[in-house]
Amino acid sequence: MSDTAFIKYKDQSYELPVVEGNENEKAIDISKLRGESGLITIDPGFKNTGSTRSAITFLDGEKGILRYRGYSIEDLAEKSSFIEVSYLLIYGELPTADQLKIYKDEITKHTLVHEDIKKILEGFPSNAHPMGVLSSLVTSLTAFYPKSLDPNRSSEAVDKSIIRILAKMPTFAAWAFKNEAGHPVNYPDNKLDYCSNFLKMMFSLPTEDYEVDPVVANALDKLLILHADHEQNCSTSTVRIVGSSQASMYVSISAGINALWGPLHGGANQAVIEMLEAIRKDGGDTKKWMAKAKDKNDPFRLMGFGHRVYKNFDPRAKIIKKAADDVLEKLGVNDPILDIAKGLEEEALRDQYFVERKLYPNVDFYSGIIYRALGIPVDMFTVMFAIGRLPGWIAQWKEMRENNEPIGRPRQVYTGHTQRPYPEINKR
Ligand code: CMC
Repeated sequence: MSDTAFIKYKDQSYELPVVEGNENEKAIDISKLRGESGLITIDPGFKNTGSTRSAITFLDGEKGILRYRGYSIEDLAEKSSFIEVSYLLIYGELPTADQLKIYKDEITKHTLVHEDIKKILEGFPSNAHPMGVLSSLVTSLTAFYPKSLDPNRSSEAVDKSIIRILAKMPTFAAWAFKNEAGHPVNYPDNKLDYCSNFLKMMFSLPTEDYEVDPVVANALDKLLILHADHEQNCSTSTVRIVGSSQASMYVSISAGINALWGPLHGGANQAVIEMLEAIRKDGGDTKKWMAKAKDKNDPFRLMGFGHRVYKNFDPRAKIIKKAADDVLEKLGVNDPILDIAKGLEEEALRDQYFVERKLYPNVDFYSGIIYRALGIPVDMFTVMFAIGRLPGWIAQWKEMRENNEPIGRPRQVYTGHTQRPYPEINKR
């Protein structure tokens, strides 16, 4: 028998069903509350509101658990590849060897983009932030594949759209960088795997040979796995809510890219490096910056710290911290900001302010240090996050469509003027 909860308001009591997830999480279903009582619930930032039922990703912020389709992030990061993980997220199961071959071949076949994309790219000034360019290029796919605008197509047609965007995203990302660098774009090399192909498009120049370093390609692959999905975060919720209006997959994902851009979300990886650089230039006095982060009159926050759901540790940050040490050692990079980062982390973990508020390093605290060691420029960091998050956005959009979810449309508590007479202009 399912549980029930009661809301008592004035002299009436309202019975509300309690739904339970597969990991015993419980939620009060308030969908009929307003009809019965006239009451809505209010929860700015959706801090305690479940927006959907989802079978894709489970996380327990108190215990520091993250699983995609039941598999732990630790196992996936160690044993899987980004392409396999993308299949797992989107289709629910790890692929068999045959399924993986077909899937990889299909993605490889679609890496090239329409030549006219270059004309769109040329329209951007070279100081355009690559995140803005990326989201525009993703939206432009609707012009090249107009049938994709209809989200009610057959599953085969949706699969084709999925393959196309997975295949073209690295090309778009590398071209967004080339636009910024003012260099000619490189075409995909279909002899290479997903990450190696991206790296070659990013770094190869007509003037010199470029060989992809497998250490760099493997590190990138792991980072993408760690970013691949994170249940109903800001950008994913954006993708689902845009898609709930029956907007197409490409534009829903483009909206997700824009939501990711902000420094409180995916943009934090860029902000972390900028912060660590600023601390280094300022003489490396971490205590001074800790004090700024704690000062309520100072808007500064310790970037890469804190998380809406992780209140113990972020399991991705643990994996990334170790990967940062390995990658820097393998590549022989000695980055002074790694020491500043470790110093800050140690201090924060001992500091009453951070301990009380359960603020721990998140995925973005060390990822920027690895990206920097791999030679990725700072304003491309969030683009890397977007490539990683793409399978999650696709999986969540697809699930939302398959569940036939209603249009997302929250309510509000109005705090403006009540009705007032319209004044003539000389009386305002
Ligand atoms: N530095 C200093 N104080 C902080 C920080 C921080 N990084 N994060 C939270 N706090 C304080 C905040 O001021 C508040 O204090 P008080 O209770 O005294 O008012 C308390 O901790 C709770 O913070 P909140 O803003 O209510 O928490 P939230 O769940 O709304 O915000 C967050 C989560 C990630 C936006 C926030 O921790 C933050 O701004 N962190 C820095 C940006 C960052 O690293 N973002 C990347 C998140 S991980 C990548 C991703 O998945 O997007």
